[in-house]
Amino acid sequence: MHTPHGLPEQNLFCLPSSLVPTPWSRYAKPMIDFTSQRHEFAHTIQQALDNTISIKNLSGPGEAPERLVAAMRHGALNGGKRLRPLLVMQTADIFGIPEKQTLNAALAVELVHCYSLVHDDLPAMDDDDLRRGQPTVHKAYDEATAILAGDTLLAHAFALLAEEKCHPAPQIRANLVLELARGAGAGGMAGGQARDLEGENGGFSIDEISQMQDMKTGALICAAVRMGALLGKADKPQLDALTIYGKAAGLAFQLADDILDLTASAEQMGKATRKDAARSKPTLVSRIGLSAAERHLGETIHSALTALLVFGPEADGLRATAKYFAERES
Ligand code: IPE
Ligand code: IPE
Ligand code: MG
Ligand code: MG
Ligand code: MG
Repeated sequence: MHTPHGLPEQNLFCLPSSLVPTPWSRYAKPMIDFTSQRHEFAHTIQQALDNTISIKNLSGPGEAPERLVAAMRHGALNGGKRLRPLLVMQTADIFGIPEKQTLNAALAVELVHCYSLVHDDLPAMDDDDLRRGQPTVHKAYDEATAILAGDTLLAHAFALLAEEKCHPAPQIRANLVLELARGAGAGGMAGGQARDLEGENGGFSIDEISQMQDMKTGALICAAVRMGALLGKADKPQLDALTIYGKAAGLAFQLADDILDLTASAEQMGKATRKDAARSKPTLVSRIGLSAAERHLGETIHSALTALLVFGPEADGLRATAKYFAERES
């Protein structure tokens, strides 16, 4: 079965187009001021990252080298929307878990995300000079340091999950480690990055592009949601619903990123734009065109919101975030 623009319906969360324009308006409740919550939480994450990425904290058998720690700080403290930690916190909040008790897990996801960006920008990958409005880590330092800064951000993420203050129950901590490892690994983000590079040679079908997006971006976003659910001890139907939400939100996030690559300015985004076409990146925008991609984004957000129907107003934070994923301008 195919949609009018040729997208196969299975994997793509397609719904009748009559439901597409602003589908979230039926769900959104003015209960929380999402913009303030997002900004305040980003500030909390910034401060916590500032504390945790220090020579004192990172030293183990030997002392962490100053320049390496400075490069890690450059890659992690340079702004960023902090949306993945927000998803951990908002999902755990559904189950009444206080923000403080989600902090280690939230930081771990953001550290993996920051590492993925440091490596994504390397000359061997997307070869970008600007990230979050500043020189990329390999530009500010050097390539070898950027590779190592990525490695050490990743390692530190798992150290934070192993700490007792992440969660008192060892089994929950182990489940969080597994969730993040799967989201980041060869079947998740890193595997998706490999597919993305493969796709530069052309020839990807729409399904292959969607699968690559699911992996390179969706997997970590979905892991963030599922980690919030693990902290909240969600039952199976709740975890299943949140997984559908996480997958749809993740796909939507990358779709929006690809659309913004074409429509937004570098100043707005804090990174170079119009790079995907220049590097022949496999994106749905290039495959089906801008307006079909925008329509598909609306449909995908609708699917994310539909998955949350099993929850009441306690999931309004996640609803607002899904809406923001589609509407964001940076
Ligand atoms: C950028 O992610 C990389 C993608 C997965 C598309 P974000 O847009 O979340 O980047 P920051 O963290 O806000 O810089
Ligand atoms: C990056 O996708 C996804 C990652 C896993 C880092 P992009 O390559 O499109 O991200 P940007 O546009 O450089 O932020
Ligand atoms: Mg890339
Ligand atoms: Mg890139
Ligand atoms: Mg991009």
